[in-house]
Amino acid sequence: MKILITGGAGFMGSNFVKYVLDKYKDYKVINLDKLTYAGNLENLTLVENNPNYIFFKGDIVKKNDIKKAVGKGVDVIINYAAETHVDRSILNPRSFIETDVLGTYELLEAVRKGLAKKLIQISTDEVYGDIEAGEFYENSPFMPNNPYSASKAGGDLLCRAYKRTYNTPVIETHSCNFYGPHQFPEKLIPLFITNLLENKKVPLYNRGQNIREWISTWDHCRAVDKILHQGKIGEVYNISTGERLKNIQVADYILNELGFGPEMIQHVQDRPGHDLRYAVNHDKLAKELDFKPEISFEQGIKKTIKWYKNNKRWWKKLKDKAFDKYYQKQYKKL
Ligand code: NAD
Ligand code: TYD
Repeated sequence: MKILITGGAGFMGSNFVKYVLDKYKDYKVINLDKLTYAGNLENLTLVENNPNYIFFKGDIVKKNDIKKAVGKGVDVIINYAAETHVDRSILNPRSFIETDVLGTYELLEAVRKGLAKKLIQISTDEVYGDIEAGEFYENSPFMPNNPYSASKAGGDLLCRAYKRTYNTPVIETHSCNFYGPHQFPEKLIPLFITNLLENKKVPLYNRGQNIREWISTWDHCRAVDKILHQGKIGEVYNISTGERLKNIQVADYILNELGFGPEMIQHVQDRPGHDLRYAVNHDKLAKELDFKPEISFEQGIKKTIKWYKNNKRWWKKLKDKAFDKYYQKQYKKL
């Protein structure tokens, strides 16, 4: 099988590139990535000399870059490329609309023109908006609340429209939050771990009562693997674990594991429009594709903390980029 993975130098994309090359020795993987601040070829040193792997620097918004990357055609495009950080989207939404909406459009056009046999769109539970109690299902309406989730929803709605209008072969996923090695240190878990490793306080929005659902990189790769091989064209699959935690609980896990107490929490002003709670039902993936997560949050967070402890060289230089001139984040203390 020949796969084009877009955004394969980012956090989850690079984990999936390595997962596929390790598990399927005869698969070819082409990685198309623009190398934004979040793209990092150091995530891929393990596979850079693998003869089944090619890296192509390019932009999914540019159809010629997609054409060059697919060459004579591929079996599937898996779209991990996106602008992904909610706080950045609040400060500067434009790049989100470009990549997450227009980029998805260009990939759909490539599939419509026959350059790939199908598209797997990797998306987020955030498109459904937040829910105080209960769960979202695959047919829940989209109610996004910030420019990131609205842009992802725009791309996903185009997937839906292309399926119906042109019969374009697309599968969509909506996943809960990922965590694990190689996550850029601006997101909650790697930011908090690396701050503590530098003896700095952790900035918790408001009182930390917002709830997120968490899946390890390993389990997310396993879920996408199932969808790649057994997923039905035209379907939508939620990917989740049921492990729903308040941010203060996540902070406590990390503080305890690193030997710190609550004095290292700095409560800061809330994120505008902050979604209260995400929760997606994953019965469809469990029943139809026999997927069960293997790693509990407790196990996964320990492994993740260990990885950041052992890979200071990887994240240290990224910490400056995490708060670069385009994203001058300032925390107002509560
Ligand atoms: P990331 O920010 O770590 O990486 C994104 C990658 O996409 C980077 O390598 C970047 O260089 C590349 N990219 C950005 N714009 C591009 C463009 N125009 N053309 C080509 N490449 C481009 O992302 P992530 O956290 O690994 O998320 C991957 C996907 O999963 C995204 O689609 C995201 O919406 C989705 N998702 C993420 C989470 C999460 O918790 N991180 C949860 C659910 C879904
Ligand atoms: P984040 O990792 O940005 O993912 P998302 O917003 O896509 O779910 O944030 C996860 C949660 O952690 C979210 O409720 C916001 C909160 N958070 C903080 O409290 N402090 C921080 O510095 C960050 C980055 C996030």
